[in-house]
Amino acid sequence: MQRERWTSRYYFLFAAIGSAIGLGNVWRFPYMTYKYGGGAFLIPWMIGLIVMGIPWMMMEFGMGRYFQRSSPGVFEGIGKKWEWLGWWPVFCAFLIITYYSVVMAWSLRYVVSSATMAWGIGEAGAAGAGSYFFEEILRLSSGPSVLGAPIGPIVGFLALIWVVIYFIVFKGVGVIGKVAVWTVSIPWVLLVILAIRGLTLPGAVEGLNFYLTPNLAALGNAEVWFAAFSQIAFTLSLGMAGMFAYGSFIARKADVTNNAFITSFSNCATSFFAGFAVFSTVGFIMQALSIPVGEVSASGLGLAFVSYPVAISMMPGANAFIGILFFLCLFFLGIDSLFFLAYGGVISPIMDKFGLSRVKATLIVIIISFLLGLVYTTNGGLYWLDIVDRTVCFYGLLLTGALACIVIGWVFGAGKLREHLNETSDIKVGAWFDWLIKVVVPAGLLFVVIYGGFAKDIPASYEGYPRWASSFIWIILAVTLGLSFLLQRVKTRVPQVSEKSEVSEK
Ligand code: PFF
Repeated sequence: MQRERWTSRYYFLFAAIGSAIGLGNVWRFPYMTYKYGGGAFLIPWMIGLIVMGIPWMMMEFGMGRYFQRSSPGVFEGIGKKWEWLGWWPVFCAFLIITYYSVVMAWSLRYVVSSATMAWGIGEAGAAGAGSYFFEEILRLSSGPSVLGAPIGPIVGFLALIWVVIYFIVFKGVGVIGKVAVWTVSIPWVLLVILAIRGLTLPGAVEGLNFYLTPNLAALGNAEVWFAAFSQIAFTLSLGMAGMFAYGSFIARKADVTNNAFITSFSNCATSFFAGFAVFSTVGFIMQALSIPVGEVSASGLGLAFVSYPVAISMMPGANAFIGILFFLCLFFLGIDSLFFLAYGGVISPIMDKFGLSRVKATLIVIIISFLLGLVYTTNGGLYWLDIVDRTVCFYGLLLTGALACIVIGWVFGAGKLREHLNETSDIKVGAWFDWLIKVVVPAGLLFVVIYGGFAKDIPASYEGYPRWASSFIWIILAVTLGLSFLLQRVKTRVPQVSEKSEVSEK
């Protein structure tokens, strides 16, 4: 059977770049840079990109192309006993889409709120943005044990998002590639407009000083290195099964190595640029409200849904317009990561394993994701979103990523992968690649998960949640691992595409 193919190299590149660029480029990267040494943070970040991120991406693309299969098929190809390792990240990807879609739903909700500046203009709006988000939009409960019912408007937007995703993915990568051209270009245009707006506001320069002034002493601090590595792992959307699938749709004769470089650099350039839009605006808030930068919530969802709305309220004009642009930008940034995870991470593995038609597999995944996602639309949803995010986007990503490198590097053979890459790629990689995959990347990932994960979340519960709630991190990891072993025992319905049949297709 002929495997589906990207219809052009550019479509593949846009799809891969779009999957990497997401909300994290706008809120996570600038904040981490500011927190961990300003301009100096860029040094470990670049080192992480070059010694870990790019080889890891070459590995995922290359292995997908080699076996012409998504993640479980790749590990089944290495040896039946490794198939579970291909499924574990599929479960993680599946859990991510259940809540990532909800964040997208909030973004759309805020496009509507921005049209009327529902949280207010001027000082009143600035003062009310926080309570608008937590009390009116999320109607947040007192803790994870108080769930309440799903909130109507969010459920409506969530349903809309899944309908959109259905129409993007049900025809496969032909349409995905074309849509990705738009979902990458539109947020870039919007980011440029937002950066111009930010940089022309009073206080912008001071914000940029916070963002970029290098504190070289920070480089001596292990936490800075761990933060930089974890950001690289997160930002490139690796370790989530999807890139194996995206690689499996690359034709045998096409380039892999150069595409991995282009994808990684484009993603990181976007992060760096987004920092200007964000920190010029943070500088403006500091000046407009006469507060120090530490009091501007610059991290995570707080930045996107509280601090930025504060800034919008204080802007001298066109408030609603800027609000709409910003939240549309978030929506477009996230949507291609969402369909990447849904299609490459979950739907494609299911099709490969069970021989289901694309439409059937898509409908099953979308309906279950929507239903599970309802949990995050309840009053207690934000807490669960945070806990599940920590579980899959931190532990799941790093653990499965490290194990995948070890099995591919030592069992399949990094040298064999390198030969496969070099057969068709513009840039030839040397023997150094083998050691990066076999030792450096897994060691880096394990360093992050041990130092920044286990060492923190085992002695004290994650983020101060009650013990029982933060134990869900371990429960979810154990259950998804168990299910992965279970799936390994199920017979694969669709035979592997052999090298021979691939060649005769040409
Ligand atoms: N790379 C995305 C971002 O930076 O926002 C986040 C992400 C998406 C991580 C998809 C993992 C993933 F599979």
